[in-house]
Amino acid sequence: MKEIFEKIFDLALPYQNKRNDKGHIEILLSYVKKLMKVEKGNENIIIPAIILHDVGWSQMPREKRFIIFKKGATAEEILAVRYEHQEKGVKLAGEILNKVHYPIDSVRDILEIISEHDTRKGFISKEDGLVRDADKLWCFSSVGFKADVTRSNISPEARYGQLNSKIEHADYFYSKTAKKMAREELESRKKETIKD
Ligand SMILES: [Fe+2]
Ligand SMILES: [Fe+2]
Repeated sequence: MKEIFEKIFDLALPYQNKRNDKGHIEILLSYVKKLMKVEKGNENIIIPAIILHDVGWSQMPREKRFIIFKKGATAEEILAVRYEHQEKGVKLAGEILNKVHYPIDSVRDILEIISEHDTRKGFISKEDGLVRDADKLWCFSSVGFKADVTRSNISPEARYGQLNSKIEHADYFYSKTAKKMAREELESRKKETIKD
C-alpha cells in the first residue's frame, strides 16, 4: 500500500472494529484489490474510502451500534443508525484526511461515497460502486459470514439463503466481478458450514 494510505490506515485504526467485526477493513481491502485488477477505478479515492467508510460507528454508543442485529428492531430504527454512522463517519474521515493533507478534490469524492455507502440507491461512480461491492462481499467472506450468523443469531443455512437471493438482486452489486466473487465465496461457505 502507498505510504499515504498506510498513514490513513494507522490514524483510523483506533476507530475500527466496533461491532464484533474484526478484520472488516483488511478483508475489504483484499477484495477491492481483486476487483480493481479487473474493473480498474481510481485507487486514490477507493482505498481511503474503504479504510474510512465505517469509522462513524466508533462515535456512537454500543447499544446503537448493535441495533441492526437486534431481534425486533424496526426498519426506522435500523435506517436511523445507518444514517448516523454515515454522518459521523463523514466528519471523522474528513478530519483524518485533513490531518494527512489529502488533496481536496479527492477528499470531496471520498466523503461523498462515505455519506451514503449503506443507504444510496444506485451508484454515483465506479469508485462508489467498487467500494460498496467490497463492503457487501464482506458478508460472503468466511469471517463476515460467521460474524453475521453469530451477531444476528440465525442458522448458517438461513444466512446462505439470504445471501444467495441478494446476488442477483438488481442494484445490489455494481460489478460483474463482484457477483462472480460472491458466488465463489458462497460456494465455499456452503462447504464449510452447511452439511448436506
Ligand atoms: Fe457502514
Ligand atoms: Fe462496512
